[in-house]
Amino acid sequence: MTSNRDVLEPEFIKDRLGPSLFYGNIIYHESLDSTHRMAKELARQGAPEGTVVLAEKQTAGRGRRGRAWDSPARANLLFSLLLRPALPPHEVFALTMILALAACEAVREKTGLDVLIKWPNDLYVGRKKLAGILTEFALKGKGIDYVILGLGLNVNWNPNSSHSTALRTETGRTVSRNELLAGILQRFEAYYKDLSPGPRARYYEKWNALSLIPGNEVEIESGQERIQGKALRIDQEGALIIRDEEGRERKIRNGDVTVKRWWGEEL
Ligand code: BTN
Repeated sequence: MTSNRDVLEPEFIKDRLGPSLFYGNIIYHESLDSTHRMAKELARQGAPEGTVVLAEKQTAGRGRRGRAWDSPARANLLFSLLLRPALPPHEVFALTMILALAACEAVREKTGLDVLIKWPNDLYVGRKKLAGILTEFALKGKGIDYVILGLGLNVNWNPNSSHSTALRTETGRTVSRNELLAGILQRFEAYYKDLSPGPRARYYEKWNALSLIPGNEVEIESGQERIQGKALRIDQEGALIIRDEEGRERKIRNGDVTVKRWWGEEL
């Protein structure tokens, strides 16, 4: 079975996935306010781990830091995954990391584009944003009740800002969203199945190898602070390690990164 149509087809995706975490749990809507909000509502009602909420269009798509996430109908990938991992809350970032890795690898395979991960949760082609991940979680006692991972990936429509791009803009052709989604879910599940420390350390190695940030001069907005320095690497906890202007190594757990000067760029 192949799919060239421009509608999302849960049956096609199921066919590609076969028996798997997501197989019986794909919830498809033509239009939703936000797949993220819907996935959270389902999680609170007890929906199982592996639920995928997928929409052709969102009327109130949400990005990080209260920003909006826009996309016209039937053009891009907009979905949220519901997970109930047996992880301590401080390790939730490992899930954002494996979704970024899965999406980065699937896009590379389907398009040949040199896509990279911009810490902590974006995908970039060159200097333009292709996709973003939104991660939210809720606790039950000291453990995790659920985690919602949302991905917005510009496939066949480009937000038209000078800072963003889409696969179609980069490749000049329409890319099958069904094929791409199946590829992302397959890869994600393979990583998710084993998040124990040994394999996770290897995932972080891959993540570093596909990371856009190390080597560049950056400014990070983290809480009230603005920190400047040279990005060095992403550590095994998902934190960004930079060398600040005083020459000290600093560990940054979250924030928004702006590249001030790219590696090799003249002053
Ligand atoms: C960001 O870069 O700020 C993250 C964007 C995440 C957008 C996705 S689209 C599917 C899911 N539903 C939402 O409302 N948001 C996420």
